[in-house]
Amino acid sequence: MSIENDLELAKLYDSKYALNVFNPLPIAFTHGKGVWLYDPEGRKYMDMIGGIAVNSLGHGNRELVKAISSQAAKVIHTSNYYVIPQRSELAFKLCSHSFADKAFFCNSGAEANEAAIKLARGYFYYKGQPEKNEIITAKMSFHGRTMATIAATGQEKFRIPFAPNVPGFKYVDYNDYAALETMVDDKTCAVMLELIQGESGVHPADVTYVKQVKKLCVERGILLIIDEVQTGIGRTGRLFCYENYDIVPDIMTLAKGLAGGVPIGAMLCTDEAATGMKPGDHGSTFGGNPLACAAANCVLDQIISSDKNILSNVNNVSSFLFEKLNELAVKTGKIKQVRGKGLLIGIEFDDSIQSAGMKQLLMQNGFLVSSIGASTIRLAPPLIITQREAAMFVNALAKILKANRK
Ligand SMILES: Cc1ncc(COP(=O)(O)O)c(C=O)c1O
Repeated sequence: MSIENDLELAKLYDSKYALNVFNPLPIAFTHGKGVWLYDPEGRKYMDMIGGIAVNSLGHGNRELVKAISSQAAKVIHTSNYYVIPQRSELAFKLCSHSFADKAFFCNSGAEANEAAIKLARGYFYYKGQPEKNEIITAKMSFHGRTMATIAATGQEKFRIPFAPNVPGFKYVDYNDYAALETMVDDKTCAVMLELIQGESGVHPADVTYVKQVKKLCVERGILLIIDEVQTGIGRTGRLFCYENYDIVPDIMTLAKGLAGGVPIGAMLCTDEAATGMKPGDHGSTFGGNPLACAAANCVLDQIISSDKNILSNVNNVSSFLFEKLNELAVKTGKIKQVRGKGLLIGIEFDDSIQSAGMKQLLMQNGFLVSSIGASTIRLAPPLIITQREAAMFVNALAKILKANRK
């Protein structure tokens, strides 16, 4: 039997040979189709977390599989020594559909944020103001696991074990404009924000707050970095979440859903912000390679395509889920709040329900979600989920909550 079908052997190898950082659930999948994943016994699971907001087009999307396999058959990697037409096309597409003038490609969200942090500092360095190098980020934010991005992350638990941390970051309460205004000073080079704090419980930023932050950045001549690693590429019902706020950033980072599961990260910026880096200042061996860019081009084409109606599907299924989950909250009294936007949804339960236990129960019933903190589960399903499939999830949750009442 191959290890793909031998969960016990895989678990044994993991316990002996894998760095103990993930603590995976005792389950593995052999294949998937749409929102469904299948285990070696043929049991199917509805993937309501989509590889943590990654599998934007679901599993086994025919066009994406074709784009990846035909690119792999032609050439997987060359290097940034050469022109990579797939990368050129992706940069063109992302810039044409956003505020941005320039794009840089890497392999993950953390790397995209590293590029953004470097660019913001370089911007003032090359203007002859190297003392302007501090970045203000939000408490409870999450920007990645590298040394600079844990320093940017406004949660001590990610930083303390790995001190000394990269200096030059300050943390301000999220959605508190007065606190931010007080914190900005002559050393500030940028404000860096998520528009929905996904990793700490799906907490959206207020529209007024974001508009005020943008205005402050313009008035003080500092850069606004928006981390759309989780919210970008259709997740919130617009191609980019900043469109919901009627503002534009100076720098934006993307990853997760951009290539539907093939690793990629991107940092997009204005021509003005782009002066923060000169040739040789930054780079990546794999970043922007033909395979990842062919995948991202295919994902973007499908999400933008008016024939596929993916963004309107996100909005329709989202409205349905919010309505039904809020009804469930009233009916059961067990749900404290349903938060988020589009298909990034946090369901916070009352104190009688532990999110980890709820995740297990849902898994036993054939639904995959993630748990965040003690009481919230997160949904980030593929953007192609149908209303019928969403209804199956709501019904399963309703059943579990009903059983829990006894
Ligand atoms: C908002 C945000 N930024 C950055 C990251 C880091 O991305 P990656 O895990 O691809 O490095 C994440 C990952 O969850 C994220 O949600």
